[in-house]
Amino acid sequence: MDATARSFLSITDLSADDIVRILDRAETIAADPCSYAGTLAGRLVLSVFLEPSTRTAVSFEIAAGNLGARVISIRGSGSSIEKGESLKDTMLTLSAYQPDAVVLRHKENGAAAFAASCSKLPVLNAGDGTHQHPTQALLDLYTIRQALGRIDGVQVAIVGDILHSRVARSLTQALTMVGAHVCLVAPPTLLPARIGDAFGCDVSTDIAAIRDADIVYTLRIQNERFGPYTGLVPSVAEYHARWGISETRLRPGQLVMHPGPVNRGVEITEELVDSPRSLILRQVANGIPVRMSCFCDLLSD
Ligand code: NCD
Repeated sequence: MDATARSFLSITDLSADDIVRILDRAETIAADPCSYAGTLAGRLVLSVFLEPSTRTAVSFEIAAGNLGARVISIRGSGSSIEKGESLKDTMLTLSAYQPDAVVLRHKENGAAAFAASCSKLPVLNAGDGTHQHPTQALLDLYTIRQALGRIDGVQVAIVGDILHSRVARSLTQALTMVGAHVCLVAPPTLLPARIGDAFGCDVSTDIAAIRDADIVYTLRIQNERFGPYTGLVPSVAEYHARWGISETRLRPGQLVMHPGPVNRGVEITEELVDSPRSLILRQVANGIPVRMSCFCDLLSD
């Protein structure tokens, strides 16, 4: 992590060595969480989620609390954002309380970098628009390494709404940095032009492209980001029939991941979510040691 910036805004803030160090520390933390209990004693972390979240918000807050920090949660609903306060003024206001870090989720691309620039506070990006979700990428790498014993050389097919997915962007960058192969698989309307060249990965508009993958990583259709563009997906039923991941589409040994929230019966079948192939709840649980490790990187002396 870039020590001078003191923020964690994008997976590209990290080198491959940084990633391995964060994952290794997360493994040590998971084995003995108590040994890190006082790392952030006396520190104040503000958890500012201006877009809906369950697992990311909760796991960031548990992670900071496990390290001994005091955590205050701010949500868009009920805050002065609803009265028209800008992100800049929100950050300046929060800075006056002298927190040690701000965890920020926001609907706009680049919001985390903007918040860091106008407040001088360390900002951890918990998802900004369709841009980045770096800690999700790290917990996904951790989960893959835990399940397969390695990341280098692993084949990952990321399937679904790539167009609107910050998860797909940061995860593809993270995976390729540590030697995994990525294929982005989506209907043409949900696959940005030239993304394969930009991210150094394969792309396909044929669902059969998942056949080579060790991990099939499914994504939710992010309807809330479609804006005026209706018709990107014909209908939920047709999407499920053509792109939904089901047991019958998988070969033996393939594992399934999803960042959540899952829309069962749309991008993935009801049964597959709960099947032994699914790493989904492991991803959720791994959010805690991985985010503890990120806080240590950013805030411990
Ligand atoms: C994702 C997000 O918010 O980017 N979920 C998550 O953080 N675990 C993906 C989504 O909303 O579909």
